[in-house]
Amino acid sequence: MLAMIVAVAENGVIGKDNQLIWRIPEDLKYFKERTTGHVIIMGRRTLESLPFLLPNREHWVITSQLDYVPPYEGVKVFHSPEDAVQAAKGLDMVYCIGGAQVYTSMAPYADRLYVTELHQAFTGDVTFTEHTKPEWIEIERTPGAGQEDLAYDFVTYERRK
Ligand SMILES: NC(=O)c1ccc[n+]([C@@H]2O[C@H](COP(=O)([O-])OP(=O)(O)OC[C@H]3O[C@@H](n4cnc5c(N)ncnc54)[C@H](OP(=O)(O)O)[C@@H]3O)[C@@H](O)[C@H]2O)c1
Repeated sequence: MLAMIVAVAENGVIGKDNQLIWRIPEDLKYFKERTTGHVIIMGRRTLESLPFLLPNREHWVITSQLDYVPPYEGVKVFHSPEDAVQAAKGLDMVYCIGGAQVYTSMAPYADRLYVTELHQAFTGDVTFTEHTKPEWIEIERTPGAGQEDLAYDFVTYERRK
């Protein structure tokens, strides 16, 4: 199964200047619990925004640069979302972790979305709106905790059959 995991502001914003905007420790914990032990697929810009490789996860990166050398050892390089999807066939769970460009190009292949929905708008330069499309059905919503200043929910969507 291919799942996309993302944290989204009320106005669809997910990042600014190639960085995340907010810091929600419970969401980082949720992301870690979900993705640990699995392959994570990301765009070249998201890989380069990471300060280090995330422990106990296999990193796959998508880039159009045929001579691309990742900044970290052990990262598997793909030159199209389709190649990554093909390589992921047979794995029981694979997560696409962004960013905006790669969410858009992998959305047609995704079976599930894990969306942390913030109840506040933010200013940024990249957005995600896939979960608002009619092909997705909400199957679970849990209010997030631990953040007095910022309400948010953990929401799961599945592709409508
Ligand atoms: N809130 C969240 O949950 C979340 C999660 C992840 C990221 N983000 C944010 O999103 C932003 C980064 O997103 P982004 O859209 O700028 O970058 P991105 O999707 O991470 O990476 C874009 C790069 O991926 C490669 N790529 C994308 N589609 C491709 C395709 N079809 N074929 C070949 N290569 C392809 C290209 O690399 P080349 O240029 O090398 O060809 C492209 O420049 C940051 O602000 C980050 O913090 C937010």
